[in-house]
Amino acid sequence: MSAKFFIQKYIAQLKALNPKYDTIFELHSEENPVIYQDRENLRLSFAMIADTHLPNRESASANLNNFFLDAEKSGAEYDAMLMAGDIADWGFNSEYDRVFDVMDKQTAVPKIFLTMGNHDVRVFFKNSRNRVMERVDRYLGIETKGKTYYSYDIKGYTFIVICTERRLLEKASLTKEQIDFLDKELARATKDGKPVFVMCHQAFKNTHGLPEVWKTGDMGEESDEVRAVMEKYKNVFFINGHLHGGIFEKTLEVLKEENNVYSLSVPGYRKENNFGIKDCGTGYYAEVYDDRVVFTARKFISGEYLEGDYTKFEIKLI
Ligand SMILES: [Fe+2]
Ligand SMILES: [Fe+2]
Repeated sequence: MSAKFFIQKYIAQLKALNPKYDTIFELHSEENPVIYQDRENLRLSFAMIADTHLPNRESASANLNNFFLDAEKSGAEYDAMLMAGDIADWGFNSEYDRVFDVMDKQTAVPKIFLTMGNHDVRVFFKNSRNRVMERVDRYLGIETKGKTYYSYDIKGYTFIVICTERRLLEKASLTKEQIDFLDKELARATKDGKPVFVMCHQAFKNTHGLPEVWKTGDMGEESDEVRAVMEKYKNVFFINGHLHGGIFEKTLEVLKEENNVYSLSVPGYRKENNFGIKDCGTGYYAEVYDDRVVFTARKFISGEYLEGDYTKFEIKLI
């Protein structure tokens, strides 16, 4: 064996053991089809990822595209994909070009919900807002008219997306107008007893292991107020990212038991996470039935299921 070949092989083995971010993951979707508990009675299904932090690199595009290829090849019936912010790493146009090139071309998921994270807004707030909200309008066929928050119904279920309205390093800043919008939309969405899904990049104070897991990782000043609004209603599922926590005992949090209000911290897609099952490229998909919501973890980047604690949550509706 030549020295050159030996070194190449050694590097390849090292890469396989510890995939760096340039590794393009191989898909195994056909061997691991998406399983639904009861496909016949499934009312709605959607997948959630967060923190793609997409740099301007070919491997990053390919690995994001794997999400959509997996959706296509696994037999999944996602009505939507939710991307919980930190779409780009710095907010450069070149990064958004890559993300939207993948999303514009995909045909596996009919609707895409986007929100901005602190990495999107912290340097180029206005440009990121324009780029991201233009795609929100395009992917959902709505007009957000310069706002960073919106709602949209699919099959009678409401998704509400809330987001910072100004440039901050880590946290979010929500105006009274936005909190009133959330309140009104929650009242409308829950009036017939259906579950509602709210997405924001940042989680509430003291949830998901905060502040220990990330000192400055919560929503910020309006955290308590927004939480109080959500807790007024029944069967509210709050979906967030930002913490890069992984799949661990703090991934799902009960916010208000008597009203069935939950918070789900979606693992980071781009990089290895910090606790429990740390795999990158992971998220959850949801099955919504008349009487329950089921969240199941999936490694979308490679088309595989993950085994272990906290990979499945089944929540009865009230
Ligand atoms: Fe992030
Ligand atoms: Fe973040």
